[in-house]
Amino acid sequence: MHDGDLEVIVRQIRSETSEVRSFVLELASGEPLPQFKAGAHVDVFPIPGLSRQYSLVNDAADCSQYVLGVKREPNSRGGSSAMHGNLQEGSRLRISRPKNNFALRENKGRNILLAGGIGVTPLLSMSQALFRRDADFHLHYFVRSNSEMAFRDLITGSEWSSRVNHHFGLVPPLLNDVLEEILRAPNADDLVYLCGPGPFMDVVRSCATSAGWTKDQIVLEHFSAEPPKLEAGADEFVVRLARRGVELIVPSDKSIIEVLREAGIEVQTSCEQGVCGTCVTPVLEGELLHNDLYLSDDEHEEGRLMTLCVSRCKSKLLILDI
Ligand code: FES
Repeated sequence: MHDGDLEVIVRQIRSETSEVRSFVLELASGEPLPQFKAGAHVDVFPIPGLSRQYSLVNDAADCSQYVLGVKREPNSRGGSSAMHGNLQEGSRLRISRPKNNFALRENKGRNILLAGGIGVTPLLSMSQALFRRDADFHLHYFVRSNSEMAFRDLITGSEWSSRVNHHFGLVPPLLNDVLEEILRAPNADDLVYLCGPGPFMDVVRSCATSAGWTKDQIVLEHFSAEPPKLEAGADEFVVRLARRGVELIVPSDKSIIEVLREAGIEVQTSCEQGVCGTCVTPVLEGELLHNDLYLSDDEHEEGRLMTLCVSRCKSKLLILDI
């Protein structure tokens, strides 16, 4: 248990769709939970040794409970199936304090919120916060079908339901047409907030860039359930831990994290998909092959940091400052 982690009770579990459940969490004492800002997530530890990140869905002004939305992933590596299979109302659960990589910015222009599937979760609390701020915003919720629309009651019962558009079953090229229309004619103070699966985010980013949105105007959170991508044919290399004086071989079919774990070396991780940044580590030497979505292009270019869960080394030797 890390300092500051919280033990909560699962007060309620609701089926939002056949694949998505929402979990209402409260402190056993009944006291309010720590405050958070819209867009925040918590690390959840559904079983020992496993942590997953889930966004807080509820209104940030109400900390009497946290609400999470979890989609059962067919290729779950333990996280969503543990949440769906092991937890019942009344279960105790360990979570971290809220963290926020997806905070709202201050602007006077439009705010366009684009959600792909379960990526809607942080955008719901952000919509609530923007409404309270009296901001100009609109949420576009892209989902495969009407029956797969999670948090329907929350949206229809909200004061901002008229600011939500649903788009069902859109795939390219129709998806691109709709996005082009939504993203048309950006002004300098407009922002796009984007969360969803990788392919959806890629299409949105490409449409936004073509429409004239700059990188700084696109605020995003990756919501990935895809397994980490190991570069096909990536060669083995040696990883040296400079401070420990340890050298280990990383074979082509294993990640650095796996090799360190097998050697009994603890490195903190969470998503293990190159998304959250928990495993970012300083690098002293090595030609890096970045496979993550967390570090910026500039950080990739500089080569001084890397994610140990998905990234690799193209040169024979990688030296880490740990
Ligand atoms: S554990 Fe999340 S980026 Fe590596």
